[in-house]
Amino acid sequence: MAGRWLRSQASSSVRVAATALKAGVAIGIVSLAAATAFAQQAQPMGDAQRGATLASTCLGCHGIEGYRNAYPDYAVPRLAGQHPQYLADALKEYRSDARQYPTMHLQALSLSDQDIADVAAYLASKPLVATSSASPPQPPQPAVVCTSCHGQNGIGVTPMYPSLAGQHASYIARALQEYQTGYRKNPIMNGMAASLKPTDITAIADYFSSLKPGLHTESRPFFRWTDHSAKASH
Ligand code: HEC
Ligand code: HEC
Repeated sequence: MAGRWLRSQASSSVRVAATALKAGVAIGIVSLAAATAFAQQAQPMGDAQRGATLASTCLGCHGIEGYRNAYPDYAVPRLAGQHPQYLADALKEYRSDARQYPTMHLQALSLSDQDIADVAAYLASKPLVATSSASPPQPPQPAVVCTSCHGQNGIGVTPMYPSLAGQHASYIARALQEYQTGYRKNPIMNGMAASLKPTDITAIADYFSSLKPGLHTESRPFFRWTDHSAKASH
């Protein structure tokens, strides 16, 4: 498919976004209108310190290493270090039920836009940094096309493209299966996942999950902030 020329890494996020958009149009999976509307969603400024308090309920599931969703069986996604805009977009989609997941719908229902911005700012406050190695490992063939948006180091190249580095493999695989069946709706990802074979999904999930440093689980909700304010007060 359009993977060949997508392989060349664009130098700025704007160019990458434009490239991605062209790719989408070329393979008929995304409309300009949808992408523009997505990019223009206004986000209030987040207060990470307030977000730390709000996030204490979330860490019961997202903060326990190895915690798995009871049914279906996959690991609860890692959030810390994820792009704040992606986190906020995801929470708003759960709140409106555009992204259907009953537990997360209930979690997001009581959150205002400001709460969402604050919680996203807290979870994202330890941003991902690319590996020090100049060249991350070569992605397996089916993952090459994905790196134009999710980065060869697994770090999303724009704030709307989630980082996948270090994410649980079972969660990545599950997400791809849900895009394939259309249960999880996204014009870009429904197209991207459509032709993946089960073996591709396994290879892709293992690749992105293995990238370090990556998304992690924040198991000590207030530790980081104690740490941070101690530093800031000097
Ligand atoms: C009862 C367990 C539980 C609690 C509590 C919980 N979550 Fe979740 N969360 C999940 C599961 C399971 C998923 C994966 C759902 C799916 O497949 O879409 C998820 C998904 C997410 C995602 C999407 C991640 C991604 O990579 O797309 C975000 C963001 C999120 N949760 C934020 C929160 C926040 C913020 C809170 C607290 C206000 C919270 N969650 C509380 C279980 C939980
Ligand atoms: C044109 C840019 C683009 C390309 C190319 C792309 N993605 Fe995505 N991907 C996105 C966007 C945007 C989202 C967020 C969609 C949503 O909100 O559900 C996403 C979401 C995901 C998620 C869910 C992450 C999470 O935290 O829930 C996975 C997994 C994923 N993509 C894997 C892939 C794989 C594998 C490929 C290649 C086969 C790929 N993507 C190609 C833009 C892209």
